Amino acid sequence: MTKCYLGIGSNLGNRRENIRRAVEFLKEARIKVKKISTIIETEPVGGPPQGKFLNAVLEINTNLKPRALLDTLKSIEEKLGRKRTVRFGPRTMDLDILLYDGKNIKTKDLIVPHPRMHQRDFVLRPLKEIAPKMFKQEARLVKTIKEMNKLVKQLRRQDKSIGFVPTMGYLHEGHLSLIRQSKKDCDVSIISIFVNPIQFGPREDYRQYPRDLKRDMLLAKSAGVDIVFCPEDKEMYSKEHLTYVNVERMGNVLCGVTRPGHFKGVATGVAKLFNIVEPDIAYFGQKDAQQARIIEKITEELNYQIKIKVMPIVREKDGLAMSSRNKYLSFQERKDALSLSETLVKASDMIKNGQRSINVIQAAMREIIERRKTAKIDYISFMDADNLTPLKEIKGKVLIAVATWFGTTRLIDNVILQVR
Ligand code: PAJ
Repeated sequence: MTKCYLGIGSNLGNRRENIRRAVEFLKEARIKVKKISTIIETEPVGGPPQGKFLNAVLEINTNLKPRALLDTLKSIEEKLGRKRTVRFGPRTMDLDILLYDGKNIKTKDLIVPHPRMHQRDFVLRPLKEIAPKMFKQEARLVKTIKEMNKLVKQLRRQDKSIGFVPTMGYLHEGHLSLIRQSKKDCDVSIISIFVNPIQFGPREDYRQYPRDLKRDMLLAKSAGVDIVFCPEDKEMYSKEHLTYVNVERMGNVLCGVTRPGHFKGVATGVAKLFNIVEPDIAYFGQKDAQQARIIEKITEELNYQIKIKVMPIVREKDGLAMSSRNKYLSFQERKDALSLSETLVKASDMIKNGQRSINVIQAAMREIIERRKTAKIDYISFMDADNLTPLKEIKGKVLIAVATWFGTTRLIDNVILQVR
């Protein structure tokens, strides 16, 4: 018998009854249901507007091989009236294999461990309840700079290498990809969760920015983070904070035009975090290409002994770059937001096919976005990816960066191409 964990969910019809019946069907299929977590009510993730889910996690024992187990789960979904309509649509029954005996499986229609389970607290919370051993290795939550200093000193004495991922929390797969790289490279992985107030403009979303430390701690733990540094605002900035790090010129282009002072805030916040955490390697995403270049610049020019690694953009299956701000999007805005990645694919294709006119490519990109009702373009820019200076011709390391509002949410995306 093999021990497996299944995710179960329903948001159509009599949800509780659907879950009860699914468990009965599992038993009829000679699957031993060993444990059932508490059933919790959760918000749907993605998809059209729809009702809340009831979710739970089951521990089962089975003789079925993964493929046969998957087929059995699909037939139970069908018996309970599931119709496959749109992706992430409402459903009477959703049964997923989360874990199969600790095995890694990757076939065309089955990936185990479930690829998105680590992002979903509605899976992690019930799983933690019925399989607490899996979560034994707790990430340490540190709230003060003093405690952080002490820990870093200890780690240094033990000659441990430190990997650092600065974040503003509400973690998603983009953040987790940076954490995974840190786990590969370093002895100890530290993340910070700090919504840095000084990088937000007065009319920006500092207050609404999504915050959920409980959820983030679970995700961080399951990704194998050792230390989570989560200071309060007053721990980082005194009432009269007067010292700033400013990267001139580079901070005033692209997003710096619409968000004056933003990169001064980012650079100051990150410089402080670097001094507190003293990492060997720090990880940033190409998603924020301008930010990553600015961080590389301060690291070089302020002589930090830190290696900066910039990691690729992680996208949703349909191409939308992952971002904590995607949470703000309505159903229509989420659909329209796809135009950002589409426009970058279009530009890359045009360049591949020999088009070299910035004006022609820009016009084609503009057209794709402007077709969408909720979209309002901030910029579509072609820059030298190293210097962040505007390009006159498409040649060398080309950064194509776009920023667009969808309703009141401003999203960014980019691609870097090497053009001969
Ligand atoms: P935040 O938006 O939380 O992002 C933290 C890190 O994750 C950044 O380096 C960002 O580029 C990276 N990231 C975000 N989405 C990504 C994606 N889809 N693929 C790959 N990497 C992604 O950026 C910040 O926070 C802040 O400005 C910070 C650097 C923490 C300073 O306050």
